[in-house]
Amino acid sequence: MNASELRQKYLEFFEKHGHVIIKSASLIPENDPTTLFTGSGMQPMIPYLMGEKHPLGTRIVDSQKSFRSGDIEDVGDNRHTTFFEMLGNWSLGDYFKKEQIAWMFEFLTKEIGLDPKNLYVSVFRGDESLKIPRDDESVALWQELFKGVGIEAEAVDFAEKNGMQNGKIFYYAVEKNWWSRAGVPDNMPVGEPGGPDTEMFWDFGEELGIHENSPWKNEPCHPNCDCGRFLEIGNNVFMQYIKTATGFELLKQQNVDFGGGLERIMTALNGNPDMFLTDIFAGAKAEIEKLSGKNYEDNKESFRVILDHLRASTFLIADGACPSNKDQGYFTRRLIRRAVRFAHKLGIGKNFCSDIAKIYIQYYQNAYPDLLEKSENIFEELEKEENKFRKTLEKGLKEFEKTISSEQRAMISGKSVFELYATYGFPLGLTRELAKENNLEIDEEEFKKELEKHQELSRTASAGKFKGGLADHSEKITALHTATHLMLAGLRRVLSENVHQKGSNITEERIRFDFSYSDKMTDEQKKSVEDYVNLAINSKTDVVMEEMTLDEARKKGAEGAFENKYGERVKVYSIGDPESSSGLAPFSREICGGPHVRNTGDIKGVFKIKKEESSSAGVRRIKAVVE
Ligand code: ALA
Repeated sequence: MNASELRQKYLEFFEKHGHVIIKSASLIPENDPTTLFTGSGMQPMIPYLMGEKHPLGTRIVDSQKSFRSGDIEDVGDNRHTTFFEMLGNWSLGDYFKKEQIAWMFEFLTKEIGLDPKNLYVSVFRGDESLKIPRDDESVALWQELFKGVGIEAEAVDFAEKNGMQNGKIFYYAVEKNWWSRAGVPDNMPVGEPGGPDTEMFWDFGEELGIHENSPWKNEPCHPNCDCGRFLEIGNNVFMQYIKTATGFELLKQQNVDFGGGLERIMTALNGNPDMFLTDIFAGAKAEIEKLSGKNYEDNKESFRVILDHLRASTFLIADGACPSNKDQGYFTRRLIRRAVRFAHKLGIGKNFCSDIAKIYIQYYQNAYPDLLEKSENIFEELEKEENKFRKTLEKGLKEFEKTISSEQRAMISGKSVFELYATYGFPLGLTRELAKENNLEIDEEEFKKELEKHQELSRTASAGKFKGGLADHSEKITALHTATHLMLAGLRRVLSENVHQKGSNITEERIRFDFSYSDKMTDEQKKSVEDYVNLAINSKTDVVMEEMTLDEARKKGAEGAFENKYGERVKVYSIGDPESSSGLAPFSREICGGPHVRNTGDIKGVFKIKKEESSSAGVRRIKAVVE
């Protein structure tokens, strides 16, 4: 059985039991500003679990595309992916434990033929402080079903301490057997629904649970142990409570919220704990082997990162999250860049992302026909991002080499990590990985401080949506600083090449800028400078920093003070592609210490000259704003 057949069997099985099949919702949640991505099948169901009437009735089944951005850096082992399909079925105030547990048992052991011998389950231990009882009802239901296939299923407790104890059913506390979007009861906001759950685990073999030479050396093995012997393949949540100011109350209705990873069930069916050996990844895996001339077995981590990240990117772009510096697109950008970096490691020197996307699009064309419809756009976005990143990757890797040889210590400074991040688009994780490969550590504390100082976008994007406008003082000042460069370049074009900076003072409200020029500017000239700056802002152009000698900077036509010593190295900020094949000069090129925004689009607003007046003999002063 392949994954498409598994999906189909699941949908049809629940359809047979009165469920209506619905299409997967978008990965970008509609009408839900609190989360960036759809991360589980129940997310689009919340209003109906709370009592609103679903137009299609009280029994719903689907396979929901899901993306968990928090898992990006965990990808590389045999089971983590950022994107997955969650098979889901819901009772919206209709059936409850008895039906759900029986159907699940039938589906897993009969319909798709998983051997009940290798199936284990967990149930809620109960919690006195929450006044929510132990789920003995589910235990009895499971025992009955196992008995039907000749298995005495014993229920045991405290496996965390005492191990398997010959159990088949395991009690666990809220940390494991309670589910809500916010996690454990303590983390749930008032008004959030949740409930105890009963989960199903697949056992890949006792021999995997021997902990002697593993990080779990001093811990017993049990279904919720992370050693790899067991894989959770499905979760039946009995969504029947709502959080109140004082504790929990019963919801208006008793619901079932089932979620099971399609990839995980497929992995169990495949009998090998490596998820990347399922048919889902076979085509893409073969292509990477072909392109790199390397095999999966010896390069598992790199292969897995690429396989996961490009599948996720393909689906994300189809749902509208094109690579960018903010919101959902920021994650697509990170995924593509990370995939390219690992491809580079495998020796894939040419663009390859769209080749891999093509394979996934073909693979998913029946289940997700919109991928095929949007394929041109997917290829275009991938190409664009890959081109951009391959250019900076080369430079960034050189910069990294330089950094580690110049710093000559076991710890790379946070400032350097930030520089790689801001100028070369190297996410923290990537620098961390590079450092690890070189047996170095990075000063993450200092990096975080730098990030905060510059109010970087990764933080805002992970924490939630950008509220619009600029977030804090330093970010506003950074944006105005970049606008100042554009203004000086505009003044030099509109007025004269002899215009140079004579002084600059930026607050979060305004730019005050003195420059060498003798005449009062006309309204037309002011308008032309404004237009020039706004064109650069609206063209959403990258700001690129390069280090070079003063002499090189002069040859490149960079604006700036040249009274420094010959041979000294300086930073040159270019706004607009410095390698532009169009032959056009960039909007601005100036010697400067920074900081600057990464892209002119981050200036966010319209540039306006508020005042132009004399400052002293031969020097004019401008006050300007971005609003
Ligand atoms: N909503 C439940 C989960 O995501 C089924 O595990």
